[in-house]
Order: sequence, then C-alpha cells, then structure tokens
Amino acid sequence: MLVYIKENYEEMSKEAARIVAELVRSKPSGVLGFATGGTPLELYKELIRMHQHEGLDFSNITTFNLDEYVGLPPEHPQSYHYFMWENLFKHINVDRRFVHFPKGMAQDIEAHCEWYEKQIEKAGGIDLQILGIGANGHIAFNEPGSSLGSRTRIKTLTGTTREANARFFDDPSQVPKYAITMGVGTIMDAKKLLLLASGESKAEAIAATCEGPITAKCPATIVQMHRHATVIVDQAAAAKLTMKY
Ligand code: PGA
Repeated sequence: MLVYIKENYEEMSKEAARIVAELVRSKPSGVLGFATGGTPLELYKELIRMHQHEGLDFSNITTFNLDEYVGLPPEHPQSYHYFMWENLFKHINVDRRFVHFPKGMAQDIEAHCEWYEKQIEKAGGIDLQILGIGANGHIAFNEPGSSLGSRTRIKTLTGTTREANARFFDDPSQVPKYAITMGVGTIMDAKKLLLLASGESKAEAIAATCEGPITAKCPATIVQMHRHATVIVDQAAAAKLTMKY
C-alpha cells in the first residue's frame, strides 16, 4: 500500500487527479469507479480543469459509481446520480451510455444488484476505483460489520453515517435509511484503489486503515490486502499515523 501525506486538501486532490488522469491517458477506454461525498469534490474540479484546458478525454471511459440511496430518483438533488452529473459528468465529455449507477428506485433490488455486478464484469472490471472513507471506517456504504467478501447489495445506514450526511439535506429526517452499495469484495476486485481522506475527523479511521489489524469493524482496513492500493491524505487526516511514509 502506498501512502502519500500531502500538505492540505488541495494538494491531496491534485495528486489524486494526476493518478486518475494517468489512467485515462494510458487507457482511453478504461473503467473508472467514482465516489461521492465532500472529499472528491476538488479532485473532480481538477479533472474538469484538465478536460477543459488539457484536453483530457473521457469519451470512451466507462464509469461505475459506488452507491446510491434507496428511494431517491436520479433527478433528486441529494441522489448520487444528481451529485455526479452536477459536480463532474456534465462538465466533461463522458458518454451517457457508458455511465452506471445503482438504481435507487429499482423494484427488485436483489436482481438489480446482480445486474450491476454483471455490468462491471462485462466492462472488464474496474481499472481504478476512487474511494472516500467514513469516520467510522466505512468504504462506500459498507458500514462496520460488513462482510469483507460482500458484493453489491442493500445496506442499512448507521446512525452516525446518517448524521454525517444530514448536512446535504434540508431536514435530517429526510436522509434515507438504506442504500445500494458495491460490496467490499466488489471494491477489492478493482485493479487499483485510490483512497482519499482529508481532515482530523478521518485521522482515526486512516490510522486503522494503514496500520491497524484488518477487521470488519473498520471495513477500510481490507485495502491492506489489495495489491495496488494508494492512500492519499492531508496532514490533518494523517495526524494519528505512527509509521514513517
Ligand atoms: P465525505 O464522505 O467525503 O463526505 O467525508 C466519505 C464517506 O462517508 O465515505
């Protein structure tokens, strides 16, 4: 596992963008896994800049997002579908036909999750998966206690995750209780992982992820088992690391 400690959020985001751009340039028909949340926002701004000013071309890139709230349609401003189009996709030249999200409004959720896994497989697997991390160590919506071998499925969000995400909703009671999420096993199948964390609220989870024992209590710790995982953090998120990187 490669761990980079950057001075601040902006530097963390620039380094992440450099890695994503390298993949896009070296494999123009590659498969990118995207994440939502506050953490990747600056990375997405940098990718937009690279598209607009350096001609970074996404036209043949296939995308898969990690997760989606159950019960929110794509046009809902808090859906992850909406988030990705607003914050990245509408500003770059991705081809709508190659963009994939779990469907929050799926009637048969189990069948839909199987379909999602199949689409990833048919695309040849994810070349580079971008990940955030929850203060509780979740990756995507794989909350503590999630099976480390899990596949795409419905999960109940923990109280702390719903509280953390309430900032995006007018009323905290509107935060959905369930999400469809790639499993830990699905994420681990990606050829490369790029995990980002910024701010002191993530310091404990990052210390566990990089230095702690692997445990389902902190699902992110499984990235220690990945052959090509890169973790990029800012100084605040690195505060509880004890080894030299
Ligand atoms: P954040 O969320 O980027 O908004 O901190 C990350 C996560 O919960 O996975």
